[in-house]
Amino acid sequence: MTAYPIIDHTFDVVVVGAGGAGLRATLECARLGLKTACVTKVFPTRSHTVAAQGGVAAALGNMGEDDWRWHMYDTVKGSDWLGDQDAIEYLCRNAPEAVYELEHFGVPFSRTEEGKIYQRAFGGMTSHFGKGIAQRTCAAADRTGHAMLHTLYGQCVKHEVNFFVEYFALDLITDDEGVRGLMAWKLDDGTIHRFRAHKVILATGGYGRIYFTCTGGHTQTGDGNAMVLRAGLPLQDMEFVQFHPTGVYGVGVLITEGVRGEGGYLTNAEGERFMERYAPNAKDLASRDVVSRAITVEIREGRGVGSLNDHANLHLSHLDPKIIHERLPGIAESARIFAGVDVTKDPIPVLPTVHYNMGGIPTNYMGEAVTLHDGNPDAVIPGLMAVGEAACVSVHGANRLGSNSLIDLVVFGKAAGAQAAKVIGENRKHADLPKGAGEQALARLDKLRNANGSTPTAEMRLAMQRAMQEDAAVFRTGDVLAQGQKRIAEIYGRRDELKVSDRTLIWNTDLVETLEYENLIAQAAVTINSALNRTESRGAHAREDFPERDDKNWMKHTLSWLNNETGEVKLDYRPVHSYTLSNDVEYIPPKKRVY
Ligand code: FUM
Repeated sequence: MTAYPIIDHTFDVVVVGAGGAGLRATLECARLGLKTACVTKVFPTRSHTVAAQGGVAAALGNMGEDDWRWHMYDTVKGSDWLGDQDAIEYLCRNAPEAVYELEHFGVPFSRTEEGKIYQRAFGGMTSHFGKGIAQRTCAAADRTGHAMLHTLYGQCVKHEVNFFVEYFALDLITDDEGVRGLMAWKLDDGTIHRFRAHKVILATGGYGRIYFTCTGGHTQTGDGNAMVLRAGLPLQDMEFVQFHPTGVYGVGVLITEGVRGEGGYLTNAEGERFMERYAPNAKDLASRDVVSRAITVEIREGRGVGSLNDHANLHLSHLDPKIIHERLPGIAESARIFAGVDVTKDPIPVLPTVHYNMGGIPTNYMGEAVTLHDGNPDAVIPGLMAVGEAACVSVHGANRLGSNSLIDLVVFGKAAGAQAAKVIGENRKHADLPKGAGEQALARLDKLRNANGSTPTAEMRLAMQRAMQEDAAVFRTGDVLAQGQKRIAEIYGRRDELKVSDRTLIWNTDLVETLEYENLIAQAAVTINSALNRTESRGAHAREDFPERDDKNWMKHTLSWLNNETGEVKLDYRPVHSYTLSNDVEYIPPKKRVY
C-alpha cells in the first residue's frame, strides 16, 4: 500500500502495553540484555494499572502467620477449581520475592509500626487452609497500582528501554512459523510502523468496555485479544467476567475491597448487614462473586437502598478518621467527587460493576501463548507471548481474588521476560518477514478510516454495551444469553454501517475509537457465545438455570475462535492442569465451597 509508507524496526522483543505486566516484562527483557521495545497507546503511567487501589497479594506474614501454600489453597478455591494448579503454585510461591523486589525498586509501601510492609485483609484470603483470615494484601495506602506503575516505569527508563508512546497496535504479523511482528500507527504524526521481533508479548489488558459500566478506563478495549482473534488463534474462558461488588452507584468508579478489609461493611435498605446471611464466616470479606450476587439478590428482593431500591450502602464512618486518612485517602476523595459523600459521616452508595476479565490469551506459566493443535492442548505458538489481564494463565480460573491481579502482573511479567531471553538465546538472526507483511492490517485501517456508513461508532458501541450489560450480567439464564447472542450477532453484522467522520491520520480519535470498537465487538461475540455454551455455575459465571458446579462435564477451559468475516464463533476445550509443579505441594481436589 504505497499510500501508507512504512517505517521498519527490528527488536528481539516487542512488548505491547505498558501497564504493570507490560512494564515488568519489558524491564526483565531489558535487564537480560534483549533489545526491547515497548509499544503503548497511552503514556506508560496512564495505563490502567495506575487505578489499582487495594494492594498486591503475597504471603509475607508481616501481620500474622502466613504461608504461600495457604495463598495457593485460597487461589485454587477462589478460582472455583478452574485455575491451573501448576501456574497457581508458581504465582504464590514467587509472590513474596516479587513484592520484595518491588520494595527494592522503590515502591513506597505503607508500613507497620516496626517498619515492615503493611498488609490488609482481602476477600477470600485465609490462613490455615480456610480456617482464619489472612492479612496478605500488601498496600501503598489505596494507591498501590499508582505506586507500582510509576516505580516500574522509572526502572524501565533506567534500563534505557525503547518506548514507542502513543502508538496504536493494529495487528500481528504472522506466517506459517508463527508470530513475527506487529503493525502500529503513530497517533501524533500519522506514520505507520512495522516491528519485526523474535517475540511479541501482548500486555494489552482487559476488555471491560464491552459493558456499559465498568471500573476500568475507557482504554480497556482488549486490543491484544482482538489481534489474536484476527490472527485465527483462540481466546480462553471468555465467559468469566468479574463484577466488583463496590463500584460507585451510577458512575462505576472503584471503591476498593480494602475498605471492607479495614472494617467497612455493607447494608441493605433495612440497615441489615446482609452478608452475615450469605457468608456467615467470611461475611463482607467473602470472595467477589459471592458478594456481588448477594447485593444483586437483595436488590431483586426489594431490599435495595435509595428511592429506586437499586443499590447497597458501604459504611466506613465508624472507622477512626486517622485510618481513613492514612490508608484510604483515595476512596475518600472518589466518594466525595463521584457520590458527593463525606465517608466520615455517610455511607457510599455502591453497585456491582464489571471489573476484570478472567479470560484472555491462553498461556503457560512462562507467558508463552498456547493453543490446541493436533490433539496437543498445550502447543506453544512460536513468537507469541501474553501477560497480565490480557492473558489467561490461568491462575484466576472462574473468579479472581482481589489483589491477585497486581501480583499476577509482576510474577508473570518477570517470568515471560526470562522465558523470552531463554528461547531467543544469543545472536539469533532475524529471518525475513513474509512478503507483503502488514498489508492486511493497513487495508483494514484504510477501510475503517474511509468508513462512510450511516451509524457513528459511538452509537454502535452503545448498542453493544447495553446488550452485554443486560444479557450477560451477574446472574445469567440460557434464554437471556441466547437473546444477547442474537443482539451481538446482529450488531456484529452491521460493521459495514460504521461511519467515521475524520479522515486524517493525526490524532484521529474517531478512527482510534472505531479500531477499539472493532476489537470490543469481537470479544463481545466470543464472550456471549462462551457464556451460553457453559451450562453450569462456576465462579463469576452464575447460571440460574444450571445453579450447580458440574465438575464431571465442565472442569475444562473453553477455547473460542472467531470468524472475523461472519462473526460466527467456534468453541473447543483444553483440560485444566490438575497437577502441581513440584512435590512441595499436592493437587487440591475440588470440594463444595462453604463461606
Ligand atoms: O478492590 C480493590 O482494591 C481491587 C483490587 C483488585 O481487583 O485486585
